[in-house]
Amino acid sequence: MVPELAGRAHVATIGPVIRRALDAAGLDASAPALSGIAVTSGPGLIGSLLVGLSTAKALALAWELPFVGVNHLEGHLFAPLLESSDLSWPIMTLLVSGGHSLIVLQRGPGEHEVLGETIDDAAGEAYDKVARWLGLGYPGGPEIDRLAQQGSPDALRLPVSMIGDDFDLSFSGLKTAVVRATQQHHEVALADVAASFQAALAEQLLRKLRHALERYEVAGLALAGGVAANSKLRIEVGELAREFGLELHLPTMAMCTDNAAMIAAAGVYRLAASGPSALNLSARPNWQLADVS
Ligand code: KG4
Ligand code: ZN
Repeated sequence: MVPELAGRAHVATIGPVIRRALDAAGLDASAPALSGIAVTSGPGLIGSLLVGLSTAKALALAWELPFVGVNHLEGHLFAPLLESSDLSWPIMTLLVSGGHSLIVLQRGPGEHEVLGETIDDAAGEAYDKVARWLGLGYPGGPEIDRLAQQGSPDALRLPVSMIGDDFDLSFSGLKTAVVRATQQHHEVALADVAASFQAALAEQLLRKLRHALERYEVAGLALAGGVAANSKLRIEVGELAREFGLELHLPTMAMCTDNAAMIAAAGVYRLAASGPSALNLSARPNWQLADVS
């Protein structure tokens, strides 16, 4: 991704996208009946964040609405819960996207403790890098997921990294192991490589998640982020929830990937809990979930 091009694309598209959303919701574009404007203020690329922030402030001023800055990862935490009513807390969440991979204990809405996170690549990043190595397109996750369903997970012996007593994750070693194994074993079919990689990655995630469930008593289990679209992960997280007798919160496909509904949901909560943000709020490109309160 080229940061400057992403920022310029935001400038070009944000106005028309907002207009289309207002039309689709049947709202009057000169004075929409809304209770506030929520916007991602971090983490992310500075140029794109500034375009969103400036637009949100301008709309809040013009429409005389409260304005609130939201953490992108807190948005992801809300995504799988949006379609569930009657939530029981606490909820253990595995948040796996192209930029982040965390295990988060949510004691209530907006009350979260980061138990562990990746020390190198994110899970989605590993999918994308392995896909590029195998000559597949971007994003790599959906293509590897599809291929893996026709392959054997036992074709390649790959390491399951970081089996320690903590809740941290690591995917960089797995990616390197796939590169090495495919260099040594040219004969292994692409589908078998995809299935072996996916099995090793899912095994690490599931082992760490199980470890967290053994340590902390919770009522629900949620999967969030772009990699929550993964078919194997959805099945295995579902089985884990059944085994531990937990409410399962699996996002629909539209709620897995980045979307504005999850930012609105987090915004509703933040507005009620802490009130509007100041209009001089700045972008925080490296804003950690652990620093959100
Ligand atoms: O949450 P997201 O849309 O964007 C970020 O905030 O990063 O996540 C995108 C990531 C990409 O790395 C993509 O390869 C991965 O989600 N992804 C998948 C699947 N669908 C998307 N990974 C594994 N299996 C999938 N089916
Ligand atoms: Zn995201």
